[in-house]
Amino acid sequence: MPNDFLSTAIETALEAGDFLRRHFETDIKISEKFSHDIKIELDNLAQEKIIASILKDYPEHQIIGEEGSIGSKDSEICWIVDPLDGTVNFTYGIPHFCISIAVQKRGKTIAGVIYDPIREELFTASEPGYPKLNGKVIKSSQRSFLSESVGVIGFSRTKETIAKATDLFFNLVPKVRKIRFTGSAALDLAYVACGRLDFYIEQQIQIWDIAAGILLVEKSGGKITTKPIIEGKTFSLKATNGSLNLDFVTFD
Ligand code: IPD
Ligand code: CA
Ligand code: CA
Repeated sequence: MPNDFLSTAIETALEAGDFLRRHFETDIKISEKFSHDIKIELDNLAQEKIIASILKDYPEHQIIGEEGSIGSKDSEICWIVDPLDGTVNFTYGIPHFCISIAVQKRGKTIAGVIYDPIREELFTASEPGYPKLNGKVIKSSQRSFLSESVGVIGFSRTKETIAKATDLFFNLVPKVRKIRFTGSAALDLAYVACGRLDFYIEQQIQIWDIAAGILLVEKSGGKITTKPIIEGKTFSLKATNGSLNLDFVTFD
């Protein structure tokens, strides 16, 4: 039986997804520009909606979001939210982005939802319970030969991590069937969980990008390896289907 928090997470992600879908391909207000990233007004507006929806059911809970946090650190339950994962895609009219919501109880993730409002794909996982895509149980892929694998390398926004990802790309591209660059870490993890991708690797990624996706991958038979950069917040991450041996990919 899925836990109660999952229904709030689903309802919240669907509402935020409708909101983002309605604003896709409209006039986007850019709030901040970086060499390799963008922030838009909708990042904040979507997070405000998500916070209101969670607090309506659970006013005493803590929420850590990419666009700011709220509530007490002493709360046993903490929601971890990326209101729009794939902001650059969204801004450029590329229809590949999502909402990611995870629920942690004393630091352990017990529910996770990733929603792609364009394809209307809802990935869910809960403890206990099976990981699902639109209500159907999902499993990671079985592929064990690197030569047959398709995976994603994420490019974070700093010079140093871009350089490391580029080195990894040159190392992996001759060995695998295809490398992809997608622009949404949460969807990359959801795709590993449902067997579309065999691996996903990113040098520097934040907790809100990965909290829901890690639960999905682990419950679907995949394997997650992380190395903390800032304890509890920023990580290097490798996700595989559980069959592929990518031990030679390390983070230093
Ligand atoms: C980004 C996306 C991207 C990943 C970046 C993230 P955002 O999140 O997940 O795929 O490579 O590291 O920051 O900024 O679109 O929420
Ligand atoms: Ca993100
Ligand atoms: Ca975001």
